[in-house]
Amino acid sequence: MTPTVVELRGCTRDYGPVRAVDALDLAVHEGEFLALLGPSGCGKTTTLNLIAGFVPPTAGRILIDGADVTGRPPHLRGLGVVFQSYALFPHLSVRENVAFGLRERRLPAAEIERRVGDAIELVRLDRAGRQRPAELSGGMQQRVALARALVYQPRVLLLDEPLAALDRKLREGMRDELRAIQRSVGITTIFVTHDQAEALGLSDRIAVMHRGRIEQLGAPREIYEHPATRFVADFVGASTVLRGRAVAADRVAVAGSTLVVTSVRPLAVGTDVELAIRPERVRLSTGPGDNVLEARIEGLVYQGAQTEVTARLSDGQRVLASVGEPAPARLAAGQTARLHLPPDAFMVLVGDP
Ligand SMILES: Nc1ncnc2c1ncn2[C@@H]1O[C@H](COP(=O)(O)OP(=O)(O)O)[C@@H](O)[C@H]1O
Ligand SMILES: [Mg+2]
Repeated sequence: MTPTVVELRGCTRDYGPVRAVDALDLAVHEGEFLALLGPSGCGKTTTLNLIAGFVPPTAGRILIDGADVTGRPPHLRGLGVVFQSYALFPHLSVRENVAFGLRERRLPAAEIERRVGDAIELVRLDRAGRQRPAELSGGMQQRVALARALVYQPRVLLLDEPLAALDRKLREGMRDELRAIQRSVGITTIFVTHDQAEALGLSDRIAVMHRGRIEQLGAPREIYEHPATRFVADFVGASTVLRGRAVAADRVAVAGSTLVVTSVRPLAVGTDVELAIRPERVRLSTGPGDNVLEARIEGLVYQGAQTEVTARLSDGQRVLASVGEPAPARLAAGQTARLHLPPDAFMVLVGDP
């Protein structure tokens, strides 16, 4: 088994009446790229700050390589940190920014030279070494911050929304590069983001956070295809959640119709069930067919390759459909439509915090 590098045991952090992190347990493995994903205010930054030692936990322990570091100051934890704002020294050159911490630690000049050179090469800033931060693009400043964290050869890299300040195109390029750098160094990385696409594309595992807790922890595909809760289904990829009642082990009554549901464990007859379905799995059906719900179209949003359709069932529940080619030019708000929901497209949710 891969060794655990960072571990949180029952970590809680209160700010006055606000419980920012709530009895959190988490084990991050050697070499893994783990994303903390969740909406603003769910406790991602606080979790990172607890690991880094910038704030102490109200309760709980933090371990690094099995050693309890709960009371240890940040600079003795062996971590590299990159914040959303890069916090570079404006009056220092790129090289000097990267070398700063090593100078503070009074490393031999030759070793500083070598390590700074390696770090700068790793993030491909070789040709910008003499420039000042203000002369660099956002993407390049980001690389300086990354080099400055990596130059310590930290045990763990902590990244708090490092791509958030970059524009979309730059962000995607930097995302791939970040992952390549992480792989080549093999460094255990904890990456905070509120962007689900970023988390899905980058991570070995994702911890989806909600109200200071981890709601689900798993590989990206697992999180996307088998969201455990309504919150995860909704936050990681839009989805519709339908409420119904199980009428057989594989049948759920929804809005007066019966849907066959094959993708899940047998249902307990008579229980209330929540079914999630991705908009791209919903088809607008013309003729008769199985697994169809009648609905009224409420809205259409043309998005190029796809049209987003909002429909409402007779009992008031809302369904999102993402309809591709052929473009449903004939559809209009106010019309009745038949929504075809494939039996294997449903995800059954548990719990509803
Ligand atoms: N220094 C602080 N003082 C008071 N409240 C804070 C402080 N830091 C965070 N919080 C509160 O804790 C909660 C979690 O915040 P944070 O960890 O920054 O969330 P995220 O990074 O997911 O947006 C929020 O309600 C936030 O307002
Ligand atoms: Mg934050």
